[in-house]
Amino acid sequence: MKNKLIIGLVVLVFALAVTAYAQTPTYVGSGKCQICHKTEKQGQQYPIWEKSNHAKAFAALSSPGAAANAQALGVQDPTTDSKCLKCHGPVAEFKAEGVTCEACHGAGSDYKALGVMKAKDEAIKKGLKILDGPEAIKTWCLTCHKDAHGKSFDFTAAWDKIKHPIPAK
Ligand code: HEC
Ligand code: HEC
Ligand code: HEC
Ligand code: HEC
Repeated sequence: MKNKLIIGLVVLVFALAVTAYAQTPTYVGSGKCQICHKTEKQGQQYPIWEKSNHAKAFAALSSPGAAANAQALGVQDPTTDSKCLKCHGPVAEFKAEGVTCEACHGAGSDYKALGVMKAKDEAIKKGLKILDGPEAIKTWCLTCHKDAHGKSFDFTAAWDKIKHPIPAK
């Protein structure tokens, strides 16, 4: 009797896990966002990001400077070690894109359709992450920038450098 109950519970947990997995949005890569987020009218989010160091964060792990950082942390290969990737390539499937759109905005498979994107509430329900206001944004930036390699972080200046708003209509 007890065994049956345990087996039943295991089956239930497994079924719930499968359902949850099926409903979890997946990452699509910045190339998909680029399709709609590159024009001047839309605010050129893609080109702004592409020119920023966020887009080069993974490449930096192969730079000469990376070796010293790696040694300090006892890391053999920075391009595969989570000790570096958690900040320099946080989306495993698209680590080569560095700090990519979806690292900050959430996995895009379910919100990237035009009809969903145009309805903000719907997009949020489908996984779009919105950071409301400077305090929330700053807190998010600090998850990677707090004391990174012992450097200080000036939020206002940093946000000014990478922000990419939709132009006011
Ligand atoms: C099919 C076109 C399309 C694709 C693909 C697309 N977007 Fe959008 N996105 C839009 C449009 C249109 C808006 C709404 C603009 C508006 O409200 O003026 C928008 C709005 C947004 C917003 C702002 C939401 C708000 O209202 O504050 C974010 C953030 C965003 N998109 C991120 C992304 C990311 C990240 C991707 C890639 C995973 C992506 N989008 C892919 C068309 C698209
Ligand atoms: C907690 C997040 C975090 C971790 C973990 C991290 N980095 Fe960084 N790294 C940063 C940030 C943020 C910057 C940019 C600092 C700045 O310029 O203000 C940076 C900058 C760098 C740079 C300079 C990039 C350039 O464009 O010149 C190199 C090289 C680097 N990191 C290598 C590594 C290596 C190798 C590891 C792993 C051993 C690592 N980092 C781990 C956040 C991190
Ligand atoms: C997932 C980790 C992560 C998050 C979150 C993050 N950053 Fe970064 N950021 C990095 C890394 C890593 C670098 C260094 C990349 C390099 O130099 O190769 C960097 C570099 C930068 C730079 C230097 C870029 C340049 O082009 O000169 C600025 C500015 C910056 N980040 C601002 C921000 C702001 C503002 C936020 C919050 C909205 C933020 N970052 C969130 C990881 C992150
Ligand atoms: C380092 C984190 C970070 C990265 C990388 C990033 N964004 Fe954003 N983005 C933000 C933040 C923070 C905001 C402002 C608050 C919010 O909407 O969450 C924002 C706002 C936006 C907006 C809405 C602007 C508005 O005026 O309402 C769009 C559209 C957008 N991002 C698209 C993109 C696209 C497309 C990419 C990749 C090409 C990208 N973002 C990369 C953090 C990021």
